Amino acid sequence: MDAGYMSQAMRIVGQAWLAVPRSVLLCCLGLATWKAYNIWCGRLRNPRRLPFPPGPKGYPIVGNALDVPAESWLKFTEWAVYGDVVGLSMMGEKAVVLNTWASISALLNKRGAIYSSRKPRLLFSKYGGWDFSLTFLPHGENFLLQRRFYHQIIGATGVKSFHDLLLKNARTLALQISQTPLQFQYLTRLSIIADTVAMIYGFEVKLENAEWVKRLDFCLDSLEALSKVPHATDFFPILANLPAWVWGKKLNHLLDNLKASTNKLGQEPYNTVKDQVLSGTAPHCLVAALIESNRTPEADVKHEREIIAVAAVSMIAGVDTTVSAIDTFILAMMLYPEAQKKAQEELDAVLTDMRLPTFEDRECTPYLSAILKETLRWKPVAPLTIPHSVIQDDEYNGMFIPKDTRIFANIWNMVYNSDDYPEPFEFIPERFLDPSSKAPQLRKDIVDSEELLFGFGRRVCPGRAFATASLWIAMATLLTGFEISLPVDPEGNPIKPDLDYRIDGIAYHPKPYKCDIKPRLQGVSRLSALREALSQ
Ligand code: HEM
Repeated sequence: MDAGYMSQAMRIVGQAWLAVPRSVLLCCLGLATWKAYNIWCGRLRNPRRLPFPPGPKGYPIVGNALDVPAESWLKFTEWAVYGDVVGLSMMGEKAVVLNTWASISALLNKRGAIYSSRKPRLLFSKYGGWDFSLTFLPHGENFLLQRRFYHQIIGATGVKSFHDLLLKNARTLALQISQTPLQFQYLTRLSIIADTVAMIYGFEVKLENAEWVKRLDFCLDSLEALSKVPHATDFFPILANLPAWVWGKKLNHLLDNLKASTNKLGQEPYNTVKDQVLSGTAPHCLVAALIESNRTPEADVKHEREIIAVAAVSMIAGVDTTVSAIDTFILAMMLYPEAQKKAQEELDAVLTDMRLPTFEDRECTPYLSAILKETLRWKPVAPLTIPHSVIQDDEYNGMFIPKDTRIFANIWNMVYNSDDYPEPFEFIPERFLDPSSKAPQLRKDIVDSEELLFGFGRRVCPGRAFATASLWIAMATLLTGFEISLPVDPEGNPIKPDLDYRIDGIAYHPKPYKCDIKPRLQGVSRLSALREALSQ
């Protein structure tokens, strides 16, 4: 190439650069410096240059976000072909999916000190007044305080103080179902609401007063409408500094509903209980106990905001999760009558003299405990739990997991893993029983579904003991009194439910279904025992 041509070309390029505005040049320089700085920091943080966990290739900028449907656990399960730890990128954020018990227990349980944070959902915390909610709180003082409150009142020991309440409500449920069996789904939900409201506030919820059902539904409807699609602040947190009106009237209306409904589940009933505590008339309940233990000599209450948060969030997190499990239990009982029969035989053998079940019978009914475990496994209430977040860079099996990565525990993949649970789509309580033992006995050499379904590490569900107690007594009481079977059409053919599940508010839940529930032969005299017990 001749030198004259070269110098002319360089002059043209030089002139073109001069024609570019200085601000654009500065921006390019800034971006290049930022990129170089990030690479330098990356090398400092990951000196051995370990790879991020393998995963599907994404698109530029959005990463894998467009490939993840609403029922994300199904896609995540497909992606388990990449390994037990799968790396994803979602709109510039790193995410990791844990697909096996080995990776979950190694990271979320054993390294719980760093894997137990959460990323706040800014739409809720910044605009919806939900900055108090434990479910979104990052690891820190407030998180520890609220978890301590739960542990103090409904931990494995504290929950026993609510056994009488749960027993009474399970019996009331049985009596109500005997009167209006077609309404069994409404009644079971009402019963779980009654358990939860009484445990939190000490108020009695009755059939004729549906106020608490309305309160909860109002809040869940606002939550569901707000959660349907991701919000811009999920991907660009900086946008949460904008004033709320920017997001439009419709969204602001939903946010106002969320605030108003949370107030009705938290602040309003709290005020009533506080008055009762001050006048010495409060019944035993979570809020009264926390007010008492946080009273100062000046008659103030410390941590009021956190107590209200624990109360309101328990209503939201505790009711429909438990309802989902009890609905699945009733479905399983009508689809698998042999399992129902075995549980009833076990109960009949323990409950001599037409006695009704009590919590003392729990230890002597392993088959029923296996049914509870299988109910949780067969249709997981939370197929993906709530994502955790890691607070410092970490390495696992030769892979690098950077700080702030969102961590999903893919429960779905684990409960349908045929190595751990052969014939995983069938309801088989026996899988939790020791095959070598003649009398039913729970086995220890299998991943216990209760260890999976209630979450992990320092984030494990704080309502677990309460939920399993209320489920156990409801299941025992219903099986003692009723035969649960498939409904039949006019020609007498059984109608099978379609087992269609969806995320309903916060839990994975069966669509409404029909069921035939009638008193068992022994149940007739047990129903009179029920009436007698409840009238005392
Ligand atoms: C069958 C019933 C239930 C199931 C299957 C269930 C399951 C779960 C799961 C999977 C998590 C997430 C754990 C994690 O992030 O690793 C969770 C969190 C939580 N659950 Fe439950 N739950 C149930 C009942 C309850 C009840 C009855 C209450 C309260 C009375 C409750 C209160 C909470 C709260 C407050 C959290 C957030 C904990 C945190 O972020 O630190 N749950 N639950």
